[in-house]
Amino acid sequence: MTDAYSVAGVALDDALAALRRHDPSARAFWLYDLDGFRARAARLLGAFGSQGVHVAYALKANGCGALVRAARETGLDADAGSLGELELAAACGYDAAHLTLSGNGRTREEAAWVCAHGAAAVSADHVGELDLLESAAAAAGVTLRVALRVNPGIATPGHKYVATGGHDAKFGVSAEEALAAWEGRARWSHLRVDGLHLHVGSQLLDTAPLEAAARAARELADASRARGAALGLVNLGGGFGVDYDEGTREFPVEAWAARLGEHARASGLDWRIEPGRWLVAPVGTLVAEVLWEKRRAEDGTVHRFVVLAAGMNDLLRPALYGARHRAVPVRPREGERTAAAVVGPVCESGDTFEEGALLPPLTSGDLVALLDAGAYGAAMSSQYNGRGRLAELVIDGGALKLARRAERPADLRLRDCDVRL
Ligand code: LLP
Repeated sequence: MTDAYSVAGVALDDALAALRRHDPSARAFWLYDLDGFRARAARLLGAFGSQGVHVAYALKANGCGALVRAARETGLDADAGSLGELELAAACGYDAAHLTLSGNGRTREEAAWVCAHGAAAVSADHVGELDLLESAAAAAGVTLRVALRVNPGIATPGHKYVATGGHDAKFGVSAEEALAAWEGRARWSHLRVDGLHLHVGSQLLDTAPLEAAARAARELADASRARGAALGLVNLGGGFGVDYDEGTREFPVEAWAARLGEHARASGLDWRIEPGRWLVAPVGTLVAEVLWEKRRAEDGTVHRFVVLAAGMNDLLRPALYGARHRAVPVRPREGERTAAAVVGPVCESGDTFEEGALLPPLTSGDLVALLDAGAYGAAMSSQYNGRGRLAELVIDGGALKLARRAERPADLRLRDCDVRL
């Protein structure tokens, strides 16, 4: 056997042994390299901050409190997409000046929250949401800064579910509606409707769609100024991708920051971005024990299945988007690598992480790491099949810590009640 796969100097089998001293039944867990997260945050802040572009962390990518606090301490703003994420940001020490609210489907409760606590900007997905924000702001006697989400009709490569800027996506208003709203903004007397929000899609490795979005933003800002309604703020959303296949191709952070800086200076507007995935995907690993290795022979072919103690309820991305997270044996055994389907214990054939992973011999109790799982991993996990959500561990200043406890079987019944309504 060779050395164990490790993260930030911690061997993953040692991490499981440490977790088991706390929870003897643990068979899988998330591990985040908090120091690596801080380094990525600092890199983004260095690149974009020096160009005068504000950077917020999109909390939806991973809301583990330890990460959110680290984001704040490093100097990132936070972007929330719901009441729960607003509360999360506040609990992690974010104040109004460093918090934005974006996303569609705005509710009265979210509007009331930002009126009570404040926010640097709130996005509105259509004109009805401007009316909603106006009545909340009027009731609270405050003024809210609002960025109107525009659908620019910009297609992005990748899975349809994470493409948000095309005309068939649910997000935003048309350019014409936006121009009319900015021009007529005096009717929302408690709103400062001088912003534009454009998030065209996620998992972009190429800057072309972002460049198209930045150009569209500047054209809209020019058109609005020509109608007598100058804008002050452009939020270009998130979207920076990571290379899930090889881990070698990089989104060109510094080059894009320099280019965005040119747009910012030429336009004279305040620009913001709110990435999630790029910050946290590469610093997160899902580690799971091999429950069984099973071989089934039929028609002269042997099918090899590696059944992990983590499933699609934990990491949904492969089942939902056909996404790939490289499966790496933590302590590879000697022997020929053969193709295996890496699967979970959930009762669906879609509970497959990878179909043809080339893996060495594995035995029950060995560990497999699924890489680049820090973004939209734990955040999208569920209790499907009566499986509690997994513990989340962090490596913080070289020390291994439990940052979120696992849900135990008894926790799954906590919401059961018998309340007459
Ligand atoms: N801003 C807005 C308004 C967003 O909707 C999103 C992501 C972001 C920022 C952050 O985007 P990022 O930098 O992470 O690309 N569950 C999918 C990704 C969904 C992205 C949703 N919105 C996945 O696992 O690939």
